[in-house]
Amino acid sequence: MVTEQEIEKAAEILRKGGLVAFPTETVYGLGADASNQAAVRKIFAAKGRPPDHPVIVHVAGTSDLKHWAAQVPNSAWVLAERFWPGPLTMVLKRAAHVSDLVTGGQDTVGLRVPSHPVAQQLLKAFGAGIAAPSANRFGRLSPTTAQHVRQELGDAVDRVLDGGPCEVGIESTIVDLTRETPAILRPGRISAQQIADALLAPLGESAGGRPRVPGSLESHYSPSLPLKIVQSEDTDNYLVAHSGTPIAVLSRRGRPVNSKAALWQVAPEMPDDYARLLYATLRCLDESGCRMIVVEALPALPEWIAVHDRLGRAATPDPIALPSAAPR
Ligand code: TXA
Ligand code: MG
Repeated sequence: MVTEQEIEKAAEILRKGGLVAFPTETVYGLGADASNQAAVRKIFAAKGRPPDHPVIVHVAGTSDLKHWAAQVPNSAWVLAERFWPGPLTMVLKRAAHVSDLVTGGQDTVGLRVPSHPVAQQLLKAFGAGIAAPSANRFGRLSPTTAQHVRQELGDAVDRVLDGGPCEVGIESTIVDLTRETPAILRPGRISAQQIADALLAPLGESAGGRPRVPGSLESHYSPSLPLKIVQSEDTDNYLVAHSGTPIAVLSRRGRPVNSKAALWQVAPEMPDDYARLLYATLRCLDESGCRMIVVEALPALPEWIAVHDRLGRAATPDPIALPSAAPR
């Protein structure tokens, strides 16, 4: 898939302060040398991301924790042992040398050891921390293929390593370990229950942990088209009431006979499979020529929390303003 020469070349680009997009098991990241401020600045420029948003530092292994964090609580070692390499980011007190650009000016740093073999090879070849947010334009859907990255960022990235489609498909679980009680800041494939079980302790409230800017973070992960979440028993009525609008429906059931949907996309039944395909599917629906996306509501069960979180942010607040011209 990715040759050793390509990895070496990518590590060289990082050493020279360039940007390399690379696959992780969650989504593709837009990487820069985390210790090079000019390089990290390029990430913000390429994404169009506000400068006060912190970025996760990716490291090759657990032994790197002490380099990036001032304090490593026992809970961090326990979670690292249990879930790394893997889709978990830990927020810890930062070490003094970590730049404000990486931390968003906070006294904490987000750290993660990704498990994707290409990410691992790149981290080992580079030999230091790689700052990497998801490789999308700010506020848009995270990329889960190399092609999505090229669509999103074009020439703003010096190299894209193609490691195939991402296995998890949504961003890592983020756990804040800087308070007395650990708390989930972003749900993901690794559940709150799994983390609580590993720590042998209940988790705290997640509110107020990560920076939340109204109208930006809340409206993250959005397709271009308006997106509405509708209970499946209301879909037919919704389509009839909006019969002048070509609507793409994302549902876990087959297309009902006589449905008024312009496009009916069947999504997987189970949460992990649904999450894996979610962003790629929303991208397709966005480009389908329809003017609106209706997603059928999912069960209110713990195993769907991470998907609920992403769909909730992708959904358009009422009232929905339909685009006046048909989109690309
Ligand atoms: O799965 C992932 O985490 C992907 C891949 C590339 O690793 N990365 C990712 O990064 O999703 P990004 O920047 O798109 O989202 C990172 C989130 C942001 O919401 C940011 O606010 C939060 O992590 N974050 C990073 N450092 C933090 C810190 N020190 N304290 C609180 N939140 C932090
Ligand atoms: Mg992101």
